[in-house]
Amino acid sequence: MIHTVLDILKIREDFPILKRKVNGQNLVYFDNAATSQTPKHVIDVIVDYYSNYNANIHRGVHALSQEATDKYEEARIKIQTHFNAAASHEIIFTSGTTHAINIVANGFTSFLKKGDEVLVSAMEHHSNIVPWQMLCERTGATMKVIPMNLDGELLMDKYHALLSNKTKLVFCNHVSNALGTINPIQEIIEAAHAVGAAVLIDGAQAAPHIIADVQALDVDFYTVSAHKICGPTGVGILYGKEAWLNKLPPYQGGGEMIAEVTFEKTTYAGLPHKFEAGTPNICGGIAMGAGLDYMNSIGFDAITTYEHELLAYATEKLLEIEGLKIYGTAKNKTAVVSFNVGQIHPYDIGSILDKLGVAVRTGHHCAQPIMDFFKIPGTVRASFSFYNLKEEIDVLVAGVKRAKAMLS
Ligand code: ALA
Repeated sequence: MIHTVLDILKIREDFPILKRKVNGQNLVYFDNAATSQTPKHVIDVIVDYYSNYNANIHRGVHALSQEATDKYEEARIKIQTHFNAAASHEIIFTSGTTHAINIVANGFTSFLKKGDEVLVSAMEHHSNIVPWQMLCERTGATMKVIPMNLDGELLMDKYHALLSNKTKLVFCNHVSNALGTINPIQEIIEAAHAVGAAVLIDGAQAAPHIIADVQALDVDFYTVSAHKICGPTGVGILYGKEAWLNKLPPYQGGGEMIAEVTFEKTTYAGLPHKFEAGTPNICGGIAMGAGLDYMNSIGFDAITTYEHELLAYATEKLLEIEGLKIYGTAKNKTAVVSFNVGQIHPYDIGSILDKLGVAVRTGHHCAQPIMDFFKIPGTVRASFSFYNLKEEIDVLVAGVKRAKAMLS
């Protein structure tokens, strides 16, 4: 049944790592929310870059530099097209989502003052909390939290009640890394705009599953990491509306972000270069574009349909284990199952699963406030991708049963 949507066995051939053994067992890779695996198409692009046209960009008249510049800018346009940004210079290459959020949080320093409020959702990754807390410390602004229910869904009536003309910024993930919840970002954005607040949506966990149309959403800022969408680590993007990016000051100074430098004064380059000081991750940017090409060649509709089948199957089979509790039971969620079994520590389950070749993430998932909310130290998190198999979920379930028998 599930193989009717996509030819998964053929797709798996594109991922060399899926053939490897771990502890003598076939690898079962269920840590896709931490980082996705890399298809041969992207690996080839990386090898091609270093084999054939490795050079610094935007600087040289020589052929290699121009080739590298062209490919890097082509990747920017691919990313612009994928997220439907109005212009390619609204796509800023960063080292990833964390860097992207810090650019905005830093940029708002001179725009906030004591008495202003910023709103954060209760289910954020630390990278979408800490930079804003630092901003509040610098400016005297107050951070308020949009609460959630026990299913891991935001309480939208409370959100609307928190908004006022004091609210200057709202930040929320599109998809929760620890719970898988897909948040109602369209409603969040519209309501924030109605009181004049800007909105940053952390799209790191959404990008592998959903195509965000930044113009239709009318979002002010949207962030993405390449390594969750079949690209390499160390690269990602900040999407920002042109008007906002023009208003924000640069995050760091250096080469390539200037118009003119004298010892008296520096003027800054236009977008996107104003935010791209120093030699960027050139190969990474090109490979990020290749990762999106690969995923688009499979098709996001097919990916979503198939991943939902995996989610439903895993949820049903795991819940057959007595004492297993799933955290994150939102009606609208991606293929992430966070769970605990009785009082067994998630780390112990994760270690036994690893012996069986099954890679899951254990712990607080860089989202300690979520764990505090549920009064647990952490969870075991299995996160699925379009290259996973139902048979692999059977291996996970058998492994959890075995861990339970050993540790209870
Ligand atoms: N933020 C990534 C995760 O959820 C690393 O695992």
